[in-house]
Amino acid sequence: MRLGYALPRSATPEDPIRLAVLISGGGSGLEALLNYQHDQPRCHRTILVLADSPHAGGLEHGSRHSVKSVSVPLPMKINKSERRVAHEHLIHDELVAADVELVVLSGYMRILTPWFVSRWKGRLVNIHPSLLPDFPGAHAHRDALAAGASVTGCTVHLVDEHVDSGLILAQRQVEVLPGEDEEALQERIKRIEHVLYPKTLDRLCSGQVSL
Ligand code: GRF
Repeated sequence: MRLGYALPRSATPEDPIRLAVLISGGGSGLEALLNYQHDQPRCHRTILVLADSPHAGGLEHGSRHSVKSVSVPLPMKINKSERRVAHEHLIHDELVAADVELVVLSGYMRILTPWFVSRWKGRLVNIHPSLLPDFPGAHAHRDALAAGASVTGCTVHLVDEHVDSGLILAQRQVEVLPGEDEEALQERIKRIEHVLYPKTLDRLCSGQVSL
């Protein structure tokens, strides 16, 4: 099935896809990606890190790797009903100004509106800590534990207008250990994500994924 999305061009290590990474927190995934790109030339290069808060610890990872890393907080002066889209306009403007080709949501905790998704469809990737379609939403580990799942995992997927529901690009299973708490499970899943998502970007950016 072809989805007819705007596919990123096929890149090479000599002419990599220009990536922006959106974060909200500590950015351990961003750090893993930057290290991966630093190890050797890849067909994607992070050129912009955007956080929705100046307190997002992950901004430091970007700066340390000499990547432009800025926060774009919610514009609180704008009235509440228009604030969310106004915020996305600010983010969109930063992405366009930096000539970004592909956007990665790596622990970005805001649900994007159809306005933003429609502008970046096919060029917007998310990492989610469960085996989608199981346990979508912001509490995937807690929900997996509460459901008594013996296996969960992580998913790299394209973002569509719904929550955690776009085309799946890659998944890895992670066993839930007996007696494991949410934090321990989260850390183990993150370690798998840190390997899976840079490699999935390799496939996507080099044209090995057919959309
Ligand atoms: C990851 O587990 C990712 O799956 C989820 O948010 C977490 C981000 O963690 N979307 P970090 O900020 O990269 O450490």
